[in-house]
Amino acid sequence: MKNVFLVENTLVKRDVTILRDKTTTPNEFRLALERVSHSIAIEISKSFSLEEFEVETPLEKTKGYRFDKQIVLVPVLRAGLSMVSSFLSMIPDAQVGHIGLQRDEKTLLPIDYYYKTPKNLDESITIVLDPMLATGGSAVASFNSLKQKGVGKCILACMIAAPEGIKKMNSAHPEIPIYTAALDRELNGNGYILPGLGDAGDRTFGTL
Ligand code: PRP
Ligand code: URA
Repeated sequence: MKNVFLVENTLVKRDVTILRDKTTTPNEFRLALERVSHSIAIEISKSFSLEEFEVETPLEKTKGYRFDKQIVLVPVLRAGLSMVSSFLSMIPDAQVGHIGLQRDEKTLLPIDYYYKTPKNLDESITIVLDPMLATGGSAVASFNSLKQKGVGKCILACMIAAPEGIKKMNSAHPEIPIYTAALDRELNGNGYILPGLGDAGDRTFGTL
């Protein structure tokens, strides 16, 4: 496994447990997803470079810092939506695109139904948000679409990653770093992550 960053701290461990727990309500599930997303956003932001500029305090001028690139967030519908507000609270001037993908229950292949991203992706840092990296089909398809639009530096942010998905990403897009809050064991016969958390979209939106 290459280019994988495990985001681990005591809050994340506690919240991933809440996400896994089958008795967690959709509201508690969304809140835990948001808290973990904060930790992941902070971790990812350590890879951004800063440019210096002069800022004026009420007293005098001093050195200030800002990101040297525009940040673009791209949630994969539906489950990725619940990661957006946390990332935006840490990076308020980020732009937000959307990719709509639905995994076919039989073939497990992603079917795309929506794509909208900002212009100038080539000069930005694009972070794809999707809680689950299972077979990797959705993540690989997302980055394929983004690359067709000329995307520059890319990052994947997820909650739970399976070895199968990491392998697929490493082979299709080896340069893309994967930030995850948990590395799980394997997929079951239906393409669900074990131990996992079940269906992230259904648990987020209460559509079980
Ligand atoms: C889930 C999840 C990922 C995808 C991961 O979405 O949010 O997008 O499955 O699986 P993969 O790595 O095998 O492609 P799903 O297709 O269930 O859509 P939903 O979010 O609308 O429920
Ligand atoms: N999508 C999910 O929501 N959960 C899984 O375990 C696998 C794919």
